[in-house]
Amino acid sequence: MCGIVGYIGKRQAYPILIKGLKRLEYRGYDSAGVALINEGCDLNVYKAKGKVSDLEEYVGDKDISGVVGIAHTRWATHGEPCQVNAHPHYSSSGNLALIHNGIIENYATLKAKLQAKGYLFKSSTDTEVLVQLIEYIQTNKNLELLEAVKIALRSVIGAYAIAVLDKRMPGQIIAARKSSPLVVGVGEGEFFLASDASPIVEFTDKVVYLDDEEVAVLNPAEELKVVNLHNVGVNPEVKTIDLELSQLEKGGYPHFMLKEIFEQPDCLNDCMRGRVNVEANHVVLSAVIDHKERLLAARRFIIVACGTSWHAGLIGKHVIENFCRIPVEVEYASEFRYRNPVIDERDVVIAVSQSGETADTLAAVEMAKKKGAFIYGICNAVGSSIPRNTHTGSYIHVGPEIGVASTKAFTGQVTVLTMLALCLAKEKQTIDEAAYLQLVEELSRVPDKMKQVLEMNGRIAELSRIFTYAHNFLYLGRGYNYPVALEGALKLKEISYIHAEGYPAAEMKHGPIALIDAEMPVVVIATQNGMYEKILSNIQEIKARKGKVIAIVTEGDQVISKLADDVIELPGTLECLEPLITTIPLQMLAYHIAVCKGKDVDQPRNLAKSVTVE
Ligand code: F6R
Repeated sequence: MCGIVGYIGKRQAYPILIKGLKRLEYRGYDSAGVALINEGCDLNVYKAKGKVSDLEEYVGDKDISGVVGIAHTRWATHGEPCQVNAHPHYSSSGNLALIHNGIIENYATLKAKLQAKGYLFKSSTDTEVLVQLIEYIQTNKNLELLEAVKIALRSVIGAYAIAVLDKRMPGQIIAARKSSPLVVGVGEGEFFLASDASPIVEFTDKVVYLDDEEVAVLNPAEELKVVNLHNVGVNPEVKTIDLELSQLEKGGYPHFMLKEIFEQPDCLNDCMRGRVNVEANHVVLSAVIDHKERLLAARRFIIVACGTSWHAGLIGKHVIENFCRIPVEVEYASEFRYRNPVIDERDVVIAVSQSGETADTLAAVEMAKKKGAFIYGICNAVGSSIPRNTHTGSYIHVGPEIGVASTKAFTGQVTVLTMLALCLAKEKQTIDEAAYLQLVEELSRVPDKMKQVLEMNGRIAELSRIFTYAHNFLYLGRGYNYPVALEGALKLKEISYIHAEGYPAAEMKHGPIALIDAEMPVVVIATQNGMYEKILSNIQEIKARKGKVIAIVTEGDQVISKLADDVIELPGTLECLEPLITTIPLQMLAYHIAVCKGKDVDQPRNLAKSVTVE
């Protein structure tokens, strides 16, 4: 989604802003723009459709001087992606420039009122309405920018993170947020502003995460000032971020996605560090220690999530129900929040989200909290909105995920859900000691087994070439591997734009079997587990109709290897841990097919990394 960067201090702002926008490219966008105040107090705005590099080209040798500036990457909501709709937007007088992430829901009403007062609009955006509204309040009531911004935001319904410049007050940036993230970086005599910490980390590790309805005044001559919309002063809490610059770079890989696929063994070790202790034969999660009674008293768990995180939730349901005997429901956050679900203080809601900012998941959390449920967050982005709005939780600790298609976050989420199940099962005594010990030990071996799978990258790249021209794919799995089939299909369609569907293998004969012919590649997860014989029959059914089977099997499989057109052999593990292994070749397959097709793997069309609008 849209990205915000801001700078005010002693350095030239433009290079910092452009670098920051590039760091935010992973979020997905379709146009970019920058506003700078130069020494003569001119407010220059430059915008371009396309990439940040298109903006740089457009800027050329125009005046880019100035020690204060704001910049934006836009992911279109209101109005098509084009230069006019790109941010920053000027106010009518040209005194103000504003950038905005989120959606102003009542923009049409506000726009009509402003039009009635003679205001003209150049763009189709909700953002331009906001900057005009601020200017109207400022001029009409003769107020300073800060006051006008607060009044304007009080009349706004919706989500926003904004930054505003006023060329008559070049020594400050005003920033505010509601339901859309905004971070202030605090340097020596300078401030940075961004939608997440990635553009800031190179300059300072001191940050302030703004809360909903807070407005910040960034003036390098003063301390950071934060007030809420109702004029109550807030003491900004400066936090130290633990983020290395190298985590935000490709480190020799051609794409972030490939880097992140390969990082998974290390990520899982980080995720389990201090939690899975093989010597002492146990798994600990501090959230379970702190809230044991509340969690064990739950009549059921409800997992809310979107996309890949929802798939991780489906695996979480299997593992928690299997070992803890607690009923688990898995809900799309976007459906759950609008459904008036039956939920009360006996329920535990587990919100799973990589970014911690997904609007629907956040809204589901807020709704469940109001109804009295206890909320447990499983997130990656430290300090993001969901962890700040939950009662407790466990970070997955896999480091920043930059590739738009989620990979390492998925395996991190599955690992945390598995650890959660193990901790609770042990407390509830619903797992016998031998099974528990075997699971703890095997979980700790998963990173090494993942490494073995990653060695097959070259072979999978070769295999992918054959399928570059496929128009459809089917992914089948059963039990723990059914969500893996869904995830494999999602990865492929996201980055290669090939239509793909995931199905529980047995459901195939209830409809999708009609699609199978010699043109249809079918990826079947057919590892040696309790479902093996069943899935073998499903493969026979596909072969009888001349479908092309790519089978994901356990090393040494003699039967399916003979039946399938292509086979990827994986190291064996316990059935409930298989998703952590079987997912990897599907990630690689999707990646290589997309690369063969020449697609922009890290920034697929129309997709955004952090979906902060509903
Ligand atoms: C798929 C993908 C998305 C996200 C979804 C939820 O590769 O990345 O489907 O999983 O948008 O995002 P988070 O986990 O940030 O809530």
